[in-house]
Amino acid sequence: MRQPDIIAFCNQKGGVGKTTCALNIAVGLTLLKKKVLVIDFDPQAHLTYSLGLDAHQLKSTIYDVMRGTVSVDEAAMDIKGMKVLPANLDLSRLETEMIALSKKEFALKSRLADLSVFHYVIIDCPPASGLLTVNALVACQDVYIPLQMEFLALKGMSRLLNLIAEVKKKYNKNGPAYRVIPTRYDARKRLNNAIMDKVRERFGDRVFKSVIRENIAVAEAPSFGQSIFEYAPKSHGAEDYLALCREMLRKKPSA
Ligand SMILES: Nc1ncnc2c1ncn2[C@@H]1O[C@H](COP(=O)(O)OP(=O)(O)OP(=O)(O)O)[C@@H](O)[C@H]1O
Ligand SMILES: [Mg+2]
Repeated sequence: MRQPDIIAFCNQKGGVGKTTCALNIAVGLTLLKKKVLVIDFDPQAHLTYSLGLDAHQLKSTIYDVMRGTVSVDEAAMDIKGMKVLPANLDLSRLETEMIALSKKEFALKSRLADLSVFHYVIIDCPPASGLLTVNALVACQDVYIPLQMEFLALKGMSRLLNLIAEVKKKYNKNGPAYRVIPTRYDARKRLNNAIMDKVRERFGDRVFKSVIRENIAVAEAPSFGQSIFEYAPKSHGAEDYLALCREMLRKKPSA
């Protein structure tokens, strides 16, 4: 049976747009009639809050799924036409609790083993390279790296690419392949353009042609518990995210 495309949104650098991309892409794919499971895999629970949920009032979370006390099916909530596995601060305990387990890197992968009802599983990772991120990298086929076109952006990239290469060698021979999402792009900024050229030169067709522009509505939407498609459907943000989702559905670059 066909298994879903599992995509981890990853960058150990904080505040680069992982959660914003994960959420709006998940909703965008749902609008394009795909069945999507979204996993908040960050103890900060920003994705959970951005969906308008109260992290203190959740019946079960991804933490419970990882502990094996509930199944994905039991814990997943129906939100905006998608299934969502929310998070709360409990997740921050998981890394310590798992440390002694022999197959600790494979815990998430084993929980996601049979999810053929979904076309996509989207995982929002924390800004760190610890065991949670390693679990996501082991479970996924693709890593999407949101990148702001700023001076230090490329510096963090090599660390992340090393981590991906290490995971590939040790735990996930068939993947993960990475793609770069240029985000918060402002064509008026000369530095943004210069760095965009460098990024495209270095990473070629792994960089999405669709670019997410800096857009105030994208930043405002989460405080209303809305995606960009509900909050401002005619905005640049909605246009950019939809274009990116369409590009995702086309052919992947060769690994
Ligand atoms: N295209 C955009 N235009 C304007 N603001 C944006 C855009 N994308 C993201 N932001 C804002 O940038 C900030 C960081 O985004 P986000 O929370 O998605 O990053 P993150 O990588 O998930 O952060 P963390 O590492 O803390 O998990 C947020 O305030 C968000 O609203
Ligand atoms: Mg985040």
